[in-house]
Parts: sequence; C-alpha cells; structure tokens
Amino acid sequence: MSKQDSRMWGGRFNEPTDAFVEAFTASVGFDQRMAMVDIEGSLAHAKMLHKIGLLNDEEHAAIENGMAKIQLEIKAGAFEWSVSLEDVHMNIESRLTQIIGDAGKKLHTGRSRNDQVATDIRLYLRTEINQCLLQLRGFQSGLLDLAEREAGTILPGFTHMQVAQPITFGHHMLAWFEMLDRDHSRLQDCLTRMNVMPLGSAALAGTSYPLDRHYTAELLGFDAPSRNSLDAVSDRDFAIEFCAAAAICMTHMSRMAEEMVTWSTAQFNFVQLPDRYCTGSSIMPQKKNPDVPELVRGKTGRVNGHLVCLLTLMKSQPLAYNKDNQEDKEPLFDTLDTLQGSLRAFADMVPNLKVNRDSMYAAAKQGYATATDLADYLVNKGLPFRDAHEVVGNAVASGIEQGKDLSEFSLDEMKAFDSRIENDVFDLLSLEGSVNARNILGGTAPAQVLFQVAACRKMIVRK
Ligand code: ARG
Repeated sequence: MSKQDSRMWGGRFNEPTDAFVEAFTASVGFDQRMAMVDIEGSLAHAKMLHKIGLLNDEEHAAIENGMAKIQLEIKAGAFEWSVSLEDVHMNIESRLTQIIGDAGKKLHTGRSRNDQVATDIRLYLRTEINQCLLQLRGFQSGLLDLAEREAGTILPGFTHMQVAQPITFGHHMLAWFEMLDRDHSRLQDCLTRMNVMPLGSAALAGTSYPLDRHYTAELLGFDAPSRNSLDAVSDRDFAIEFCAAAAICMTHMSRMAEEMVTWSTAQFNFVQLPDRYCTGSSIMPQKKNPDVPELVRGKTGRVNGHLVCLLTLMKSQPLAYNKDNQEDKEPLFDTLDTLQGSLRAFADMVPNLKVNRDSMYAAAKQGYATATDLADYLVNKGLPFRDAHEVVGNAVASGIEQGKDLSEFSLDEMKAFDSRIENDVFDLLSLEGSVNARNILGGTAPAQVLFQVAACRKMIVRK
C-alpha cells in the first residue's frame, strides 16, 4: 500500500483490510448516533488547541466552518457514512479534511480515538440521562395526581397474593412513586461520577502536548478532567452503572405492569387501561389486551441482559483500551431506548387508568381484611396480642363456615368469641375504620396519603 492509503492509519500496512474484517470491525452503523457529540467534543478540543497556539486563527476558523457544514449534512441525512472509515470519529474527521484540507489533519493533535470515544459516550449519555430524569419526574407527578384523586379509594392490600389488609389506592400509587424516586436518585448519582472528561488522556498515557485540559472540560460542561489516563480511556463503569440503574427502574415498572395486567382482568376488574394503550384479538372479539404493560414487563428482560452484557464485556479487560469496548454501544443505546420508551408509555398511561372503586371496595370486603383490626381492638382491651390472634382466628374460621364477614356477626355472636367485645367494635371492622386507623407516618390512611402527596409535590420540584 502507498502512503496515500484511504485508511487513516494505513501507513504501516502492506495489504488492504479483508472486506469481511472491515465490516466486522466497523462500528459506524451504530456509533453514528454520537455524531453530534463527537463534533461538540472536536470543537472544544480545537478551541483549546487554538488557545494554546497549536492551531492558528485560520486553521481554527476552518475547522469550525467545516464542522458546521458537516452538522448540516448529517441533519439533512446527506452525510455519506463509509464502513471503510470504521467509526463515527474517522468518518467525521475524514470528511472535515475533505472539506477544509490540511487544517483538518491537525484536529487530532494530542488526541486519540480512545479518549475521544470515552468522552463522546459520556457526553451522549449525559444528555440522555437528563431526559430520563425529566421523564421520571413527569411520571411521578402523574402518580401524585392520581394518588390525590384516589386518596380515599379502598382496595385489598395483598401479601402472598392473599388479601391481607385494606389499603387505599392512593397509598398504593405512592408506593410506586417511591420506587421511581429512588430510580431518579440513582440516575442522578450516576451522572455525578460520569461527568469527568477523558480528553487529554490520548491513547492511554496522556500526551506530550501542553493541552489545557481544564479549559476543554469547562467548555464541555464536565466537572473536571480525569486524573488517570489509563483508567479514563478504558473503564466503562459509568455505562454499567447507568444500565444497572435502568435495569432496576425497568424492574420497578415491570412490577407495576404485573399489577396492571392482573387488575385489568375480568376477575379483578380494579382498573381499566386506556383503550389507546391496548389491542384487540383478531379471533376473540371480546378481548382487550394489556399489551403495553406486558411489553414493558417483557422488555425488562432485555435491559437486565444488557447489564450482564456490559459487566461481562468489562470483566477480563486488562488496562488500557481494548477493542472489546466498541461492544459497549449497542447494549447501552438499546437500554436508553427501552427505558425512555417504557417511561414515556407509563407516564401517559398510568395517570389515565380508570379506577373501578366499587370493585376494589367489594374485593376488600372479602377475605377478612379487617381481622388484624379486631385483634388490635382486643389488645386495647387488655388481651396479649398472641391471645387476641387466637380469638380472631376462631372468629374467622367461624365466619368462613357460615359465609359471613366479621362485620356481619351480631354483638352477641361477637361476645361469644370474647366477652370484652362491645358495640364500638363495628366502627373498626368497617374498611373505612381500618384504613383511617392507620394514620401514622407512611401509613395507608387517606389523611396520610394527602399529607404525603403534598410533601412529595414540594420535594420533586426542589430536587
Ligand atoms: N470505534 C472505537 C470504539 O468504539 C473507537 C476507538 C478505537 N480505538 C482504537 N484504537 N481502535 O471503541
């Protein structure tokens, strides 16, 4: 090969790259997604090179103009991506040189694709995570509205999928809110560690040019330049962290999905999903299938897979950069798409659930949901809790035998279970009495739900 090889590193090679290998090693098919941040990074690098005198005024201006043209070409879909130029970085740099000539060749001074790509991914992910944070807040705010509206709506709370105690639907929505709030804080936390700039690390050892790394970092909105070049070009822990946070968030949404699927069955009939979020069956005319929650539940598996993929990708890599790292992008991008899509769907769908208050109430009436309240009542009358548990157990057994709820026994029948029982017991055995009694911080009482809604509303605008 001559020194005029079209490959940007062709100088030391004696034969062209095998066509299959060229396609096999190329990443441009998927990393062109980072084109805009790649240009942003290059512009900051060029500005810094100009500041320290490694680019003159004309060269710097030419780079800026050339990049502006390339940005337009990419936006218009007119940019010709070439697999033989391997990745987004070399495609853009090569086009720049094509447009502006020799000044384009100076852009890569003091830089390697290794610190370039590590910077690009961070820039890209930073914007996308901020988008996820906004989506989470939107979803949370919708949940607060729903919780407020349904603060007094009673449904059975379950443990082991068995009716346990009556709760309020508002309280249930606030549980979802809390899960999402931790997801929000995990993503924010991940942003903090991610926001460090690798540029200036060059291939692995740093560079001999007197780059002003603080200046470039400031231009790009990074908190600081990285402290160790080997680490900065090679670790992808920030991407792993993001995928871990995404996998947890998807897992939360998957749990919500599972509940929505169950609740919308004819057997439960607690909620109806908006029609625009469901599909029908081509053979069974009565069907309204909860496709969106089912898909979110299913897509959780693929995000969990991406997390394992990135962990495995990283686990045996020696310092510093290895080509393995090129495999980080597809799982990362798919995680982003899946998380953002799922958040978008749920943020719109969940607050628009149609809540069937009557079915929820009727379901809470079954299953002796207020049995604990009766036990607590007896404890207040001086019975040790374990004995109270026993008494109520007998009452429930007798209720099951006679097909009666606890609240349907007469006072005399009640007194037969324990003579301490008086007329005031019936207030407690009602579902309303039961939920209202739990007016403790974090409890299910409607008053508590309204208190939390107000506090959470303030919290999400502040943080
Ligand atoms: N496309 C590469 C990646 O995604 C860029 C870095 C390549 N560096 C190298 N020395 N081959 O990781």
